[in-house]
Amino acid sequence: MNKLSASLLKWYRQHGRELPWRGNPDPYAVWVSEIMLQQTRVETVIPYFEKWMKLFPDVRALANASEQDVLNAWEGLGYYSRARNLHKAAKVVASDFNGELPRDLTELRSLPGIGRYTVGAIASMAFGMDEPTLDGNLRRVFARLFDVDEFADSPAGEKILWELAAQNLPKGQAGDYNQALMDLGATICLPNTPKAHPRCLLCPLMKMCETRKHGTQEMRPVLKAKKATPQYIHAAAVILQRGRVLLAQRPPDGLLGGMWEFPNARVNADPAKELTKVIYAAYSLKARIERSRNVKRKEALGIIQHAYTHFKVTVHAFRCDLVSIPKKKNLKWVRLVELDDYPMGKVDRQIANKIK
Ligand code: ADE
Repeated sequence: MNKLSASLLKWYRQHGRELPWRGNPDPYAVWVSEIMLQQTRVETVIPYFEKWMKLFPDVRALANASEQDVLNAWEGLGYYSRARNLHKAAKVVASDFNGELPRDLTELRSLPGIGRYTVGAIASMAFGMDEPTLDGNLRRVFARLFDVDEFADSPAGEKILWELAAQNLPKGQAGDYNQALMDLGATICLPNTPKAHPRCLLCPLMKMCETRKHGTQEMRPVLKAKKATPQYIHAAAVILQRGRVLLAQRPPDGLLGGMWEFPNARVNADPAKELTKVIYAAYSLKARIERSRNVKRKEALGIIQHAYTHFKVTVHAFRCDLVSIPKKKNLKWVRLVELDDYPMGKVDRQIANKIK
């Protein structure tokens, strides 16, 4: 074992975080946690993971669940394709692999939602194999330890970082080594932002860190400049009729795939004025902004803002009356008391909570 891995593992034994999926030999638990932890912070994941393992304690339970129950359990975590892929993959594991995650890395990689990172994480943490992995935290740690000046988000940078991840693996302890690097990245080798900085004085690898020698910690990893995030304005219609509200189900793939929402569309100018036009274009729905029921004409229910990964959106929600009855398969009249059963993104859940 080299000095780097020895120092890191020693630090991990003292300072590693106690997390509900650690020390759990069940590959399914490791798999679920690794999918949840992609793009999502540990503190956010913990309660979702615990609830999930009660609802779907093993691969077969997940495979047999409905997509609605799966998306409901994921609601609030974001990146819903992760849940849909996990569900799809559980069905494949149940039918083709007798309910057990395959140990063959090519077979593992062939499952929906399992890429190179997840293969390395599951193989090392659940199967005890000597496999590297590389996520955002590990990229930053390796880019700093070895002062990598290549763009970390370029193919050349990726190649270098994967090689570094593999080069220093201690035999028989790759799972702990990989998780130690994750903890180091999450608690010590922090990204350089207005709110956080690398905490080099506490780092167990301080003496062997190339950027510490060169004073370049805050310049690594080198990342391509991000494009400005576009901002969109949407109008959303809350169409009520006899204690029910009209919901639309989004297409199965893409952003918020399979989730439910209030009929809505992007607008260019005044959301109240454009509402009926855009709702008609998007859903063939003829709606009129409500006048009666002790609400004023053009009653606004609220303005909700949300930041997705690649854009920001401001949604203006209005209560409407329906003029024509739509005949679209993805539309459904839902009783107000059942709104919680329909998985929604954060924006639509906030609208739903206004009318429950
Ligand atoms: N981030 C991704 N996987 C993780 C793990 N197993 N422990 C801590 N943070 C993680």
